[in-house]
Amino acid sequence: MIFIQVLVETLRNFAYLIGDEKTKLAAVVDPAGAVDRILRLAEDRGLKIIYIINTHSHSDHIAGSQELASATGAKIAMHKKARVTKHLVVEDGGVISVGELKIKVIYTPGHSPDGISLLVEDKLLTGDTLFVGECGRTDLPGGSSEELYDSLFGKLVKLDDELEVYPGHDYGDKPYSKLGYEKKHNCTLKPRSKDEFVRFMAED
Ligand SMILES: [Fe+2]
Repeated sequence: MIFIQVLVETLRNFAYLIGDEKTKLAAVVDPAGAVDRILRLAEDRGLKIIYIINTHSHSDHIAGSQELASATGAKIAMHKKARVTKHLVVEDGGVISVGELKIKVIYTPGHSPDGISLLVEDKLLTGDTLFVGECGRTDLPGGSSEELYDSLFGKLVKLDDELEVYPGHDYGDKPYSKLGYEKKHNCTLKPRSKDEFVRFMAED
């Protein structure tokens, strides 16, 4: 698998280019406005971008999606709750095939109602649901600490500790982490009841 994390300095967003070595087909996750850089990276590696998968519809993440779709013919894939233009609707448990790569969709609302995380091989892309050392905020329109609790504790922490966590922003002390490490050291993943978590999220 070709897996490239692209830092976009403006809001410290991460875009991702994920390619299948064999078929040279690729997906972009959250272009974050870095259209030219992504096109150059894909061209350098001989990759054809067939999907743009957005982890949620906040403007910093989806920036450049339409432009990239027009430039490549790629389809924009998002959760059904996303109220923006999309060509492919994805749901929890769905799989997006990119050549021989299988990208699994995990519905993780809470930061936003249309939030998804993506699992591909040993990598977990968490959008704004989980960051290195932090979790997504829930005080924006459509946010819900209750839903974020279910996404984090009901879904993500149950996955394999060895998975590498690739977030939607560079907010931590390193650009990616291991899920097992985050479970031990990320204060937002400290075991809490749902009520405790909702109170914790309201504190800061
Ligand atoms: Fe966001």
